[in-house]
Amino acid sequence: MGKVTTTTLAGLKARGTPAVFVTSYDYPTAVYADRAGADMILVGDSAANTMLGLPSTTAIGMTEMLVFAGAVCRGARHAFVVGDLPFLSYQPSDASAIRNAGAFVRAGCDAVKCEGGRRVARRVRAMAEAGVAVMGHIGLTPQNAAQLGGYRVQGKTRAAVEALVDDARALEDAGAFAVLLEAMPPDAAACVRDALAVPVYGIGAGPHVDGQLLIAHDLLGNFVGDIRPRFVKRYAEVGAAIEGAFRAYADDVRAGRFPGPEHWYAGEMQMAASAPEPVASRP
Ligand code: KIV
Repeated sequence: MGKVTTTTLAGLKARGTPAVFVTSYDYPTAVYADRAGADMILVGDSAANTMLGLPSTTAIGMTEMLVFAGAVCRGARHAFVVGDLPFLSYQPSDASAIRNAGAFVRAGCDAVKCEGGRRVARRVRAMAEAGVAVMGHIGLTPQNAAQLGGYRVQGKTRAAVEALVDDARALEDAGAFAVLLEAMPPDAAACVRDALAVPVYGIGAGPHVDGQLLIAHDLLGNFVGDIRPRFVKRYAEVGAAIEGAFRAYADDVRAGRFPGPEHWYAGEMQMAASAPEPVASRP
């Protein structure tokens, strides 16, 4: 399998094949998602919540995001990697947007994503003109959740849907190669998709889009906390499996069951005249 590009993604849309889009923030998860055939990986600023235990995505910055992005890019051989521009990394000026988008590209990302419609179209144009592939993100945009009155479903009225379509068109006109829709009814998402030529992806936006995004920790059952959004389908209980494994290890250590003879190295006192056993190293 070759590397997914914007041309591959446009081809999937043209053939009506939904793109598989998932977040990752670390090397092993990126490797597993990539091996499983994900088309796109988002190094989301949701890392603030999922990886760092922060209450809001506004609390993460470029320094942390570039560490996560580098790890994911080393693991993703096939998937198209999108780096998520964090709060205040692109809003202040075209120069800040280009500089920070460029930092994601230098870390190995294929594209960047930023939140907002018409109000960020200028920044999208600046980054696109600098040669960066940019994905727009409208609907529920967590970086300005306070302005939206919280984490609320968007596009519930005709006027709100018209505003979403205007936002999406502004992003496409500015050079966005795709637009992501978050948290809106399926009919609203369909209106946006029908108004654009570029691929439109969704998270909590129903089936009438060109691909689905889920946060890895949500679909894997690895999110620490009680949030269970309606749009998430859980495919595993990784958090419970990890906690269970730690409990079993703790029980074994305390009961003297670990380590057993199969876990320790033989020394001169136990070995006859055999060669020293190599210690396994990681790549
Ligand atoms: O950071 C992220 O994971 C995102 C999705 C919630 C769309 O931006």
